[in-house]
Amino acid sequence: MDQAAGLRDKEFNKRNPTFYRNLGVPKRQVRVIAVSSGKGGVGKSTVVINLAVAFDRMGQRVLVLDADLGLANIDIFLGLTPKQNISHVLNGKRQLHEVLVNGPGRIRIMPASSGVQELTRLTDEQKLLLLEMLDELESEVDLLLIDTAAGISDTVLYFNLAAQERIIVVTPEPTSLTDAYALIKVLHTRNGERHFRILTNAADSDREGKLIFAKLSKVADHFLNGISLDYLGNIPRDPQVSAALLQQKPFITLFPHTAAAKAFVNLADRIHRSAPARDNGNVRFFWKRFLEI
Ligand SMILES: Nc1ncnc2c1ncn2[C@@H]1O[C@H](COP(=O)(O)OP(=O)(O)OP(=O)(O)O)[C@@H](O)[C@H]1O
Ligand SMILES: [Mg+2]
Repeated sequence: MDQAAGLRDKEFNKRNPTFYRNLGVPKRQVRVIAVSSGKGGVGKSTVVINLAVAFDRMGQRVLVLDADLGLANIDIFLGLTPKQNISHVLNGKRQLHEVLVNGPGRIRIMPASSGVQELTRLTDEQKLLLLEMLDELESEVDLLLIDTAAGISDTVLYFNLAAQERIIVVTPEPTSLTDAYALIKVLHTRNGERHFRILTNAADSDREGKLIFAKLSKVADHFLNGISLDYLGNIPRDPQVSAALLQQKPFITLFPHTAAAKAFVNLADRIHRSAPARDNGNVRFFWKRFLEI
């Protein structure tokens, strides 16, 4: 499809969100990407926020799901103070759109932190309620980015399995590599997941990033059958990433001319151009898988 036709289609979908539904024709797909890591503190939230900003600039409508049970990272990163989270939707006190918070640009954030654990223990009634509400959201979102907690907890595994694509973040620290392998291994051996995209963060050079990927790839190829790891490149270490966190603003907005900011923009571009590994991602589908697991 040429670009103009694509835009016309998009415009049509926007104005007629129920048209395809009524016709029984599948709507356009929403990409659902989970960003995870074996080890904590490797830059998942940093990656999610800066990717969200880069995608927003491309005209993509981004929804960020803060699925970290621990600290409400995304809020702090962006200086937001959400009063509600997904648990208020689940107990029927709020509608989904009342819980969403506006981030930079057109980015919207679903503060799920304290409601995430409950997502794995919903009643059938709550599941239905959530699915109906999410159906509404689907016509408003092009990309769902999920910032998961670190490690191999059940909740992390659920999000990874429910998402359409998985990005695993790895840093030069040796434990980050072994923990990433542990996460990949669990998802592969227990759940048959085969496709993983690897992003190195905070390596000092592209060469170092490639070496880290090569090590992970070698071990995964050797011990895990039929696995496919795709290298997304490296985000260089830059002390200003932490400075942006202190100012509670996205790094690529504050320091757009740095190599790291350019790497984030290239990363978004690369993800945008690459076809999803599996053709089953849309927001409703994500939640259906999530809720039925
Ligand atoms: N490329 C980078 N260069 C320098 N510092 C970075 C880089 N990426 C992340 N950091 C810093 O590393 C720290 C951890 O980042 P972040 O909170 O994004 O990690 P996380 O994986 O989300 O952590 P958690 O597992 O606790 O959720 C932050 O202080 C952040 O500023
Ligand atoms: Mg985080």
